[in-house]
Amino acid sequence: MMNDDVTIDPWGSSQSTDYSRIIEQFGLSSMDGVSVPEPSRLHRRGIVFAHRDLEMVLEAKRKGEAFGVLTGLMPSGQMHLGHSMVIDQVKWFQQQGGDVTIAVADLESTATRGISLAEGRKIAAEEYVANYAALGLDPDKTSVYFQSERNIVQKLGFQLGKRTNLSELEAIYGFDGSTNLAHVQAPLVQAGDILHPQLDEYGGLRPIVVPVGVDQDPHLRLTRGLAAKTNWFNVSNAKMGIQVGVSVQEENSHVMGVESNGRINKEKQKQVFSKIVDTISGLGFSDIMSNPKHGTVNIPSATSRDKGAIKMALLSLERSMGGMGLLAPSSTYHRFAVGMTGDKMSSSKPKTTLFLSDDIASAEKKIKKSFSGGQATVEEHRRLGGDPDKDVAYQYMMYFFEEDDSFLAEINQGYRSGNILAGEMKQMCIERATQWLSELSEKRDETAHLVERFFE
Ligand code: TRP
Repeated sequence: MMNDDVTIDPWGSSQSTDYSRIIEQFGLSSMDGVSVPEPSRLHRRGIVFAHRDLEMVLEAKRKGEAFGVLTGLMPSGQMHLGHSMVIDQVKWFQQQGGDVTIAVADLESTATRGISLAEGRKIAAEEYVANYAALGLDPDKTSVYFQSERNIVQKLGFQLGKRTNLSELEAIYGFDGSTNLAHVQAPLVQAGDILHPQLDEYGGLRPIVVPVGVDQDPHLRLTRGLAAKTNWFNVSNAKMGIQVGVSVQEENSHVMGVESNGRINKEKQKQVFSKIVDTISGLGFSDIMSNPKHGTVNIPSATSRDKGAIKMALLSLERSMGGMGLLAPSSTYHRFAVGMTGDKMSSSKPKTTLFLSDDIASAEKKIKKSFSGGQATVEEHRRLGGDPDKDVAYQYMMYFFEEDDSFLAEINQGYRSGNILAGEMKQMCIERATQWLSELSEKRDETAHLVERFFE
């Protein structure tokens, strides 16, 4: 890897925060210019900063069509504020009408953290789902499952494994010859997690969005690539309009009219192409150029805006012909809240992390010691002002505790100008954190009886 590349490691503890570089290097789309309906705090503040194919989901919502949200939890350690940020987004999608599926990555935590399945189960319910209920996820519109128990997820992981190889996993994750094979399997099972809600048994073909921290993008790149490789009809931008390319593979060669001796059955091939043409004209296009010889169908009058609808229609067609018809997942990416010390927040570094079940005294202690964006002396601070972008207490107000945008802008300005001192910012943060944590703890008690409903 070139040394000026940003690295992303879903299991690592360091994290690049050069977000525009990340967007560029990993081919994400910026959220600038995406119009989000009823934007949440995280959208309004640019904390959700990038996406892949989010339009598929927003379009479904606009048309009143179904869409889903999926996330996963690794049952190890305690749930911290960083985790709650994902749940905030899941909740937002749920309020927008999405159905919610949550994977308990018990297989992954056995593989990578040495947590037994029984332990994982207990942690998932007591530590995570208890907080999901308290944070306001709707138990009747949320389905939590265990990887180890959902056969179809493992089966899908296995089937998809056929579409990749060790070199690709080495390139994506930096695996090498010494990598434990369970660790190699984990991302394939996770691809199964992400793709299975669109199977017919779990709600059928619809866009599924996965809100993640940007460190999880490798999983999404892998999953999107795997889904694409299974697709029978590839939809891409052409010089003029949109092109559909037919992908003949081992699984479908018979259906596509390729006989075992390699000869083409012209009649069968014609049928396939007329199905494609029918499907596309069903969407209202009329100038469709079918070119079986080249394996393509062109729609010159279609634009990139039509791509999603064409994709969906052809995935349905693929399913009707016996294929998996998997739509690549959409995703959104959020920035990381820094840890209290300014490093990545991590369950394994309790001093740097606010846990959802921290008592007020320890939360207060952590915030008091948090990394400050203030100046060394009060005199200097009054003169030069502080830096809210570096000040952990301010950052926590922005990410978690302060709903009111105008108040936030006020304290940002006040800090920058030197009117608000670092100690005062910390004090404000402590007050809000205290309120937030005690409300959550009350809610946890009130909603404890709902926890089981999430697993039904
Ligand atoms: N790997 C994720 C973690 O470390 C957990 C996870 C499992 C997940 N399956 C997922 C996350 C699917 C998002 C989507 O926390």
